[in-house]
Amino acid sequence: MQNLSFSECLLTWWDKHGRQDLPWQHPRTAYRVWIAEIMLQQTQVKTVIPYYQRFIERFPDLQSVAAASTDDVLALWSGLGYYARARNLHKAAGICCAEHAAALPRTPEALAALPGIGQSTANAIFSQAYDQPAVVLDGNVKRVLSRYHAVAGWPGTSRVHKALWDMAEALLPTQRGADYTQASMDLGATLCTRSNPNCEACPVNHDCKAYLDDRVGDFPASRPKIKIVEKSFHMLILKDRHGRVLLERRPQAGIWGGLWSLPADDNGQPLEQRLGIDSDELKPLPGLQHQLTHMRMTILPLLGDVTRLTKGVECSDEQSWFGHKEWPALGLPKPVRQLLEQHIKDGT
Ligand code: ADE
Repeated sequence: MQNLSFSECLLTWWDKHGRQDLPWQHPRTAYRVWIAEIMLQQTQVKTVIPYYQRFIERFPDLQSVAAASTDDVLALWSGLGYYARARNLHKAAGICCAEHAAALPRTPEALAALPGIGQSTANAIFSQAYDQPAVVLDGNVKRVLSRYHAVAGWPGTSRVHKALWDMAEALLPTQRGADYTQASMDLGATLCTRSNPNCEACPVNHDCKAYLDDRVGDFPASRPKIKIVEKSFHMLILKDRHGRVLLERRPQAGIWGGLWSLPADDNGQPLEQRLGIDSDELKPLPGLQHQLTHMRMTILPLLGDVTRLTKGVECSDEQSWFGHKEWPALGLPKPVRQLLEQHIKDGT
């Protein structure tokens, strides 16, 4: 009886208060849901929506993504962050075209075998695309369930994760799989929020252990502190006589893997040394802060003009010059785009 009551209460609430006009719900096809779920892996709905709409306009179906270059896909991802998601999505599109008759597979197992799709994302796609009940355990749902059952421990550990997965499975309804998935996430995103949850409006508060014990603030337990590394390095904005700027492709592994970036100090080797430029010929510009999950970086930009350098610069295979009509369309890390927008004017 309890199973039914959780999902029934949740769905009744969702029918009235849930999010029912998200772009990937109309139409709710496997392809559209897949793109949305990948974008939503580390990014909030509000941020995702404009990126999603641009992406779908440029790539309306799986074939169009598979036929594009990785750079074209990265360019539309530029600013969303966590670029491995875009590279994996492109790879997965290729696999679907080659092995699944240009469609997404129809089982959670086969979906989870594609690059960039874990079990929870596979289930989220499966349940929404094919309207089947399946366990979805993103951050929102973990928060809801850890409160509902007053689960001790940080949900990032495999022990707590497994316990929450089993609980989620026990609460699944047999009908309305797609709506239930969206409703579970909406409850976490709109009422059962991290801070200031609106418990009075919650449709399942009568059974919520944390609420009944007046301990909502204790769940979920927070993540053990991660160490944030501070890093400070130079980046070179070097222009040639046509006003083009020198960019280099980042190695596939590591931060900003595969994106185009401004040349930077590399593993302690100053960029001037790497490129054979005299530091006196470069002009320091105001620094820029940028925060990643594990790193707080201070970028110290240096501006240079090839025509004023004593020695020329020879491009390596990973470097190229881009004009002001070309670089805006590239996949660029956010601070690099900011620097270019600030310091490179049209054709100057
Ligand atoms: N996070 C992951 N998937 C989501 C979805 N479909 N709606 C809202 N937030 C999400």
